[in-house]
Amino acid sequence: MSNVKYGADAWDARFSSDGWAYGREPNRWLEERISPLSAGKAMFAADGEGRNAVWAATKGWDSHIFDLSAVGQEKCAKLAAENDVTVTYEVDDLETRIFKPQEYDLIACSWFHVPWNVFTTHYPRMLDSLKVGGHFITEGYHTSQLEMDSGGPKSLDLLWDLDEVMAIIGEGFEILHSEVESTILDESDLHRGKANVVRIHLVKLH
Ligand SMILES: C[S@@+](CC[C@H](N)C(=O)[O-])C[C@H]1O[C@@H](n2cnc3c(N)ncnc32)[C@H](O)[C@@H]1O
Repeated sequence: MSNVKYGADAWDARFSSDGWAYGREPNRWLEERISPLSAGKAMFAADGEGRNAVWAATKGWDSHIFDLSAVGQEKCAKLAAENDVTVTYEVDDLETRIFKPQEYDLIACSWFHVPWNVFTTHYPRMLDSLKVGGHFITEGYHTSQLEMDSGGPKSLDLLWDLDEVMAIIGEGFEILHSEVESTILDESDLHRGKANVVRIHLVKLH
């Protein structure tokens, strides 16, 4: 990792308690946008304890995760077993992961913040693994979240400016949704209250 503060050890520590850091339920924005889609092969990037991938698997998706956290992998296995579904979870790093082209019908992630130099190089590589017609759905914290206490990284380098994000990932996609929104989060103690978020839904054109 380019910034050790946000490395695997920190995420393993976060996921080591008995509870669920961001809840057991899927992220609401991901649930809203994925629910109408036909199930296929999905990559839930950086899904931590696996709440989004497990929920999607209960809806018929072939759910995959890559994430830095081996503890997250164990928690996901527990959640998947409780829901009687299977999720394929690889402990892996966005920066070094090898992505196959045209593999997924859906890539989705909630709160997958990485340093900006990592984002600009590796989010486009990740999105290359979408099939033509595949969907990319994400929610992240906006730069204006810095002063708020409802979650998110306390570093502008990791927060999202919508125009900057879209300049990096928007090329070659139909934009179904691309907005900065003020919302009320109620995911867990870590993500609760008024928050400023970036919500994006893209479809790969070619
Ligand atoms: C804020 S948590 C969100 C977890 C999950 N998406 C959710 O909403 O419940 C951020 C996640 O990103 C993962 N992560 C951070 N940097 C990563 C990287 N370079 N490669 C893979 N996963 C990473 C962490 O391990 C952690 O699980």
